[in-house]
Amino acid sequence: MEIGAKIFRVKSCPSTNDLAKEMALSGEEEGTVVISDEQTKGRGMKGRKWYSARKKGIYLSVILRPPHSNISLLPLVAGLAVTDAVFDSVGLRIKLRWPNDLIWGKKKLGGILCEGGFLGDRINYAILGIGLNVNHGRGDFPEEIRHQATSLKLISKEDMDENIVLKNLWPALNHWYGRFLQDEKDKIACHFQENSILPLGKEITLVTESGEVAGIYRGIHSQGSLILESRGKRKSFFSAEIKTMKK
Ligand code: BTN
Repeated sequence: MEIGAKIFRVKSCPSTNDLAKEMALSGEEEGTVVISDEQTKGRGMKGRKWYSARKKGIYLSVILRPPHSNISLLPLVAGLAVTDAVFDSVGLRIKLRWPNDLIWGKKKLGGILCEGGFLGDRINYAILGIGLNVNHGRGDFPEEIRHQATSLKLISKEDMDENIVLKNLWPALNHWYGRFLQDEKDKIACHFQENSILPLGKEITLVTESGEVAGIYRGIHSQGSLILESRGKRKSFFSAEIKTMKK
């Protein structure tokens, strides 16, 4: 089934990712989308909170049944789809920060949270969670993130119709997920790089589970990892955060 052909809309829920996971475990088919007007326990990466003010943003999760368990490219797939949908809706070319941030200037406009459920070593489902700040004013963000968050309304100084963004999101998600299914891994990584805020060859510092690593950014691997050259050796990171970017 095409992504967006079946939409399950709720007024409120703790997290659309959790709701979508329950539905996936009950056998809901690939492509079904769960959207909520608000989330009371919205989640971001690394167990952070995702503040989800009522009717201000898009909070949704897509149930996928990918054919293989290599799902590290899925957040990149979702990021590319959102950049296209935002461009088609409001003409803004937003940027991506590996692995899951949607960026405008130096501020965060949204994020992706991809979670997989496995049966043994086989993937059963993947939940692709997308959060996009649409009609937030500055006061709709909690004080601690106000300086680093933005919304489509803050950027364009106009109220935005969330439904226009959603209407453009379904074909964009179907396009990029279709390319993922066609095994176009290199092209996805290449397009991600073209839309990335991080230029090739820049010195960066990554925060990993085992500490900080500095090196030269060498791009995105076709498996979705970030390639860093450190002391003449190239290493791939699947889970890390970019801390600093030297000019
Ligand atoms: C991040 O940037 O850390 C990821 C944010 C992901 C937020 C979305 S909103 C819809 C879905 N449900 C959640 O609880 N999180 C994701």
